[in-house]
Amino acid sequence: MAKITASVYTSHVPAIGAAIDLGKTQEPYWQPVFKGYDYSKQWLKDNKPDVIFLVYNDHATAFSLEIIPTFAIGCAASFAPADEGWGPRPVPKVIGHPELAAHIAQSVIQQDFDLTIVNKMDVDHGLTVPLSLMCGQPQAWPCPVIPFAVNVVQYPVPSGRRCFELGKAIRKAIESLDKPLNVQIWGTGGMSHQLQGPRAGLINKAFDNAFLDQLIADPDALASKPHIDYVREAGSEGIELVMWLIARGAMSDVAGGPAPKVKHRFYHVPASNTAVGHLILENK
Ligand code: DHB
Ligand code: FE
Repeated sequence: MAKITASVYTSHVPAIGAAIDLGKTQEPYWQPVFKGYDYSKQWLKDNKPDVIFLVYNDHATAFSLEIIPTFAIGCAASFAPADEGWGPRPVPKVIGHPELAAHIAQSVIQQDFDLTIVNKMDVDHGLTVPLSLMCGQPQAWPCPVIPFAVNVVQYPVPSGRRCFELGKAIRKAIESLDKPLNVQIWGTGGMSHQLQGPRAGLINKAFDNAFLDQLIADPDALASKPHIDYVREAGSEGIELVMWLIARGAMSDVAGGPAPKVKHRFYHVPASNTAVGHLILENK
């Protein structure tokens, strides 16, 4: 059977992508950010999955205000890096996994979650920056990726609870595929950031670190955190953090297994307007 072996959590700041693409990773401002991912790059090489199920949000790139899916699963054979205003990032195209994606769509929809099926989509920094952080600058990404886009841009956005429950359904779906696939699930976005208004640049280190602690130790309680707490404490874009609960809900301890192993934890301020948070959890 297919199995979820690990989850990875990381911020997806667009300026990080630009720093990589423009060869600035060793500049004093950026060096401490990328140093936090040295371990992760080696870990991913040592623990190469067959597929990455990558939870992220589209930033009004593939979707506009004309169509706003709450949860959208990419079922295509490939996904091109999007032009976000400066031309597409010079990164490999993303190869999908239509068979597993279609299986997950079938299973999760039958578990009563409404997913939008997407058969053509460009992917923005929300998806490509986490791949760059974890893989560097390869000729091709190490494995197929299933993009899973969550609306955290235009209200109403899904609650942490719904995201956590969805993670459980995704785990059931993946682990019911009768193929020996090693699957990782990644949750991206966050941590605290506010991109507009008088509070622009808001960073709340205490909130972010408490979020990481609780994500590891008690994600079920964390799932009860209401939207308003994210927005007040972590800033308007801090709401992206609910996506981390999808990945966490798919880990096996949530379904009665042993607690996951914390392989890596990293936190750094600042990167552009945000705090960068990163975690790797392995299923035992
Ligand atoms: C920034 C961070 C994000 O996560 C994002 O999606 C857009 C901008 C920023 O810090 O500039
Ligand atoms: Fe974002």
